[in-house]
Amino acid sequence: MVNEPLLNGNEKKYLNECIDTNWISSEGPFVTEFEDQMALYTGRKYATACTSGTAALDIAVAALNLQKGDEIIMPSFTIISCAQALTKLGIKPVLVDSEYDTFNMKVKDIKSNITSKTKAIMIVHIFGLTVDVNPVLDLAKKHSLKVIEDAAQAIGQTYKGNQCGSFGDISIFSFYPNKHITTGEGGMVLCDDHLLDKRSKSLRNLCFGSQRFVHDEIGFNYRMTNIQAALGVAQLERIDQIIKKKRWIGTSYNKLLKDLDMINTPIKSTNFCKNIYWVYAITLKDNFPETTERVMFELEKSGVGTRPFFYPIHQQPVFNKAGLFLNDKLPNSEKLYRKGFYIPSGLALTQNQIESVSSALHKVLS
Ligand SMILES: Cc1ncc(COP(=O)(O)O)c(C=O)c1O
Repeated sequence: MVNEPLLNGNEKKYLNECIDTNWISSEGPFVTEFEDQMALYTGRKYATACTSGTAALDIAVAALNLQKGDEIIMPSFTIISCAQALTKLGIKPVLVDSEYDTFNMKVKDIKSNITSKTKAIMIVHIFGLTVDVNPVLDLAKKHSLKVIEDAAQAIGQTYKGNQCGSFGDISIFSFYPNKHITTGEGGMVLCDDHLLDKRSKSLRNLCFGSQRFVHDEIGFNYRMTNIQAALGVAQLERIDQIIKKKRWIGTSYNKLLKDLDMINTPIKSTNFCKNIYWVYAITLKDNFPETTERVMFELEKSGVGTRPFFYPIHQQPVFNKAGLFLNDKLPNSEKLYRKGFYIPSGLALTQNQIESVSSALHKVLS
């Protein structure tokens, strides 16, 4: 498995509590407990648990009350969830390229993309390193723009000592099993503004009004169950150990792969964060003669699971067919897809497994 979770804390105990008490729905007590704990951990006032990171992005964007034709600046090198949260509402994603070495959006390219229609900037922390957040916050303040922070991959990571998930006007997490803490499927929306929180909770729950079954607005059923939240509470209790293990996996690979000169291994740290290796992301150097597909195929044959990088948003057929991004050229995002893949990075990895992945890479790449 490329990303196997570890469920060896209080998970079973809390799940049993759900069954013993018959609280399995979203009305159960673990949901608010998980929200409270996540808000506390990230230093936010409010949290809204929901069904996935994708759902959290839908809620976050919808909560901002933007209009059709408004624009949001975001990276192309990210998951489609970020862009579809916008296009579903008729909001235009304006895409910027990413840095080839950190995989994160080129913050210096944001400014030239601001127009009179720009209403927000969406930042997305990628693969274990963070976006350079402060210049984005400065720009947003100067131009009165909202910041949406996608910290799906960055639970437990910090930027200049502050928790990811604490920076956006509205921020989100995902709890899919490949994330640092998992609820099977799940997500969270965080903010400090009471009205934004009220709106997020309303959107999560079909926008029920004060009169039951009478609705002024269309919302979603994105409610998290008590069972999922029970897992989340147990997982969050071990977040420090989890981050430590992720860093151990990353540094172990760093040592074992340092002699492979056909690949770039992840950057260890930047001026503002130390890598937490959400995934161990590799790019093939230009002079390596084989394609990424071939390398991934050969690794698979040796029993090593891999995943490709994100396919750039501006080249997604679904958007191109709709006439979007047809003239966009974002070379790093395109090249990252062509050259990149990641290797097993899950929390259940053992020293022996890391060593066998490294041996397989040596066999295939040298
Ligand atoms: C950056 C980012 N945002 C959002 C999501 C969506 O999360 P989910 O899979 O929980 O819908 C992911 C999923 O991996 C992601 O990597």
